Order: sequence, then structure tokens, then C-alpha cells
Amino acid sequence: MSARGQVVFKDIWKKHGEFVALKNVNFEIEPGEFFALLGPSGSGKSTTLRILAGLDAPTAGQVFIDGKDVTGADAAERDVAMVFQSYALYPHMTVAENISFPLEMAKMPKAEIAPAVFDAARKVKIEHLLDRRPGQLSGGQQQRCALARAIVRKARLFLLDEPLSNLDAKLRLETRVELKKLQRSLGMTAVYVTHDQEEAMTLADRMAVFMAGEIQQIGTPEEVFAKPNSIDIAGFIGNPPMNLVQAKYQDGDVFLGGHKFETTMQAAGSRDVVAGIRPGAIRLGGDGLQSRVDLVEHLGDTAVLDLDIGGALMRVRVSDENVPKEGDTVAITARPQDIHLFDSQTRMRLS
Ligand SMILES: Nc1ncnc2c1ncn2[C@@H]1O[C@H](COP(=O)(O)OP(=O)(O)O)[C@@H](O)[C@H]1O
Ligand SMILES: [Mg+2]
Repeated sequence: MSARGQVVFKDIWKKHGEFVALKNVNFEIEPGEFFALLGPSGSGKSTTLRILAGLDAPTAGQVFIDGKDVTGADAAERDVAMVFQSYALYPHMTVAENISFPLEMAKMPKAEIAPAVFDAARKVKIEHLLDRRPGQLSGGQQQRCALARAIVRKARLFLLDEPLSNLDAKLRLETRVELKKLQRSLGMTAVYVTHDQEEAMTLADRMAVFMAGEIQQIGTPEEVFAKPNSIDIAGFIGNPPMNLVQAKYQDGDVFLGGHKFETTMQAAGSRDVVAGIRPGAIRLGGDGLQSRVDLVEHLGDTAVLDLDIGGALMRVRVSDENVPKEGDTVAITARPQDIHLFDSQTRMRLS
């Protein structure tokens, strides 16, 4: 299949009266990419997807699909397939009829429809359920039916809005893996909305992180994890997320709970900062900051400690071999490259 499904969002704004839902959103998606729109609830992800699908019009800006300006084009002209959190299946139709619906709409010759439906059903492993109605399926099977209906048309773009949210935790993990394999094997471009950072981190080739209607960062999951652009992103990504504490920066060092930590920043002078350290980047032992262990949470092969560092909370992930006990005092250190510094006023990254 030739590469299809390139997307460009250029200076997109969306207003509802005075309320600004999207503020100057810009991104580009390459053909074949799995691109996630990640952010907390209400940050503008679904609005973005609906504008891309042609279900909503932007207040300003342009949308391009494969180089063509589709800003004014109807949903039907855009050749996109969409899967929602609610599967939106037709309850009175069988699985086969639900899957074939978009093909009937597109007036595909009758003789070609049945094999296409079977093929799509087989790809999501529901070919044995074609005669059932949605009400006779489990949540996971309904979700597969919705996926089959989306892939049967071989649309140029595959748009998914929180498609796994209604599944229980185990099924969500299984379906997540299958979804990724399906997208890879079909070579299609996928735009995937989620508020679940772990889902975006595991599925996406690249992601755009939304905060309050704006994209604050675009990058691979590794890039965003390693170098979050802002305090809000740092506190949103990772499990547990990055520790963020008020601190004093001075001439290359940062002072946390009265202890000096070296940083990679070179700037001379003194200023208030927010220092960030990932729970997994903190080392116990050595000449470090003395902290009290308030709580130990055993998670199997790792444990998470809640440490009290002079009144502030610091969470630390350690391997489950040498876990201190609640009430113990431990010393903590961190490598300079593991200390992230943010401006307390603008909330943006400094180092
Ligand atoms: N038709 C509408 N009228 C007014 N506000 C809306 C409308 N649609 C969405 N919004 C608001 O826009 C913001 C972004 O919504 P949405 O894109 O659905 O967020 P997300 O999908 O990230 O949870 C929310 O604050 C929501 O309440
Ligand atoms: Mg949404």
C-alpha cells in the first residue's frame, strides 16, 4: 500500500462562544504513524479529533490530509474511519451487517462485500460471531466489531477516541497489544485519543501532549519522558509521576530540604525553581539528603516508598530486594542528569 494518511493541522483555533477549546494547535502526522493525542480530561483532544474527522469545523486555521486542504470538506469526503469509546453499533443489525454498513454506503458491489467483511472480522478475531447481534456480545467483542467496521473500508485515516476506556483492566491490556499489531500489519495511519499516559506511552510512535487547549509538547514517548517541557507534563507522565518540589537554584546546584544536589545547568546566580526527579532515578545510600520513610508500597518486583524530605513528599521506586521499613531514615541522592529544573513562574523547563 502506498503511504497514505498524512495530516497537517495548521494554526487551528476552536471557540465555543467566549470559551477557547483549542489555542493555535499545530502538528504534522506522517503516513503510517501511530500518533497519540494525550492530555487530561477537557484539554481539547476530542475536539481536535472531531475537527480532523470533519464532524466539527475549526473557528480558524486549516486541516490538510495528504496535502489537500480539507478544512471545508464534509466527513464523508475525507475517507476517515472513526472508533469511539461507546462503540456506536447498530443494535438491530448483526455483526456482519454492522461491519458491512460502510461498504453498502460506499456502494461496493454485493459480491465483494461478504469476503471483505469476513476478512475484517478475521483480523480482529470475531469471524465466528458474524450472525450475532451486538447485545449478544461481550464488551470486548463489541469493541472488536467496531474496529472491524472501521478497518473494512481501508480508509486513509483511522481515528480512535478512548476506544479502550470501557473495557476492564485485563482486556484493555490485551486489546492494546492487538490494536498495535493490527495498525502495524495494515500499515495505516492512526490518531489515538487517550487521557491514559501509559496507553499513549506504549502505543504511540509519537504523541502530542495537550494541556488546557494547547499542545505543550510533541515527541516520541521516550523524548517526552526524558525531557518533559513543563511542570504539567512532568507531573502527568510516568507511574508514579515525577516528584516536583519547590527548591532554590544557585550557581549550578539546587538545594532540596537543605541538601545540595548538583545539576547540569551552568547559569550563574540564584533563583526559585521547581526541581523534578523521577521516582526511579533516586538512589538510596551515600552522602545524601536524610529522609524518613513514611510508607512502603510493595508492587511485586519493585516497591514505592513515600519519603518525607523536610515536610515535602518524595516518592521513590526501588527494586524489591533492599526495601527499608516504615519509620527508617534513608539518605537519597540523584545524578545531575536526572534532576529536571523548571521555572516556578512560567512552569516551563529550564535545563
Ligand atoms: N459544544 C461545546 N460547547 C461548549 N464547550 C465545549 C463544547 N464541546 C467541548 N467543549 C469544551 O471544550 C473543552 C475540550 O473538550 P474535549 O475536546 O472534549 O476534551 P477532551 O477530549 O480532552 O476531554 C472542554 O472544556 C469541553 O467542556
Ligand atoms: Mg474526549
